Amino acid sequence: MNRIARLALPAALVIATSMLAACHQKEEVSKEETATLIAPVAQVALAGSAPAAGAAVPAGKVDVKHVFDTVCSACHATGAAGAPKVGDKAAWGPRVAQGKDALYHSALNGKNAMPAKGGNPSLSDAEVKAVVDYFIAQAK
Ligand code: HEC
Repeated sequence: MNRIARLALPAALVIATSMLAACHQKEEVSKEETATLIAPVAQVALAGSAPAAGAAVPAGKVDVKHVFDTVCSACHATGAAGAPKVGDKAAWGPRVAQGKDALYHSALNGKNAMPAKGGNPSLSDAEVKAVVDYFIAQAK
């Protein structure tokens, strides 16, 4: 009996150790898997924040449609909050008559129910101005 115990103990230790090792390895694999699984999302998030870093949108090139669709359209496509609708010449005529700089100023700093930068401070001045240019072009 004693002899069996002396043989069995080391064997049990070996088994236990290799099980621990296997567990440890498994954990590392699943960490790697997790990194692989979230990578696309992480890259998309990086791409989304890239304009500030200048990677996704080259300097001087603004995706007007994207900025309009994601920020300005909430009010300027629908007329919500009394916003002048894009393409509504009657609503834009008197505003355009104030001059481009006045419109830039309102869009960047806000005016009445119009929040500064459409409520998205992460937009660059160039992005906001590009949409204002688009509004002016659509009002002609
Ligand atoms: C929460 C709603 C809302 C959002 C979002 C919004 N606007 Fe406006 N905007 C308004 C309203 C309301 C007015 C009219 C303000 C007034 O004249 O009283 C307005 C007016 C303007 C004007 C005319 C300003 C003037 O001096 O007559 C410009 C230009 C403009 N918005 C640009 C933008 C741009 C560019 C964006 C996106 C970056 C944007 N807006 C997003 C509500 C919004």
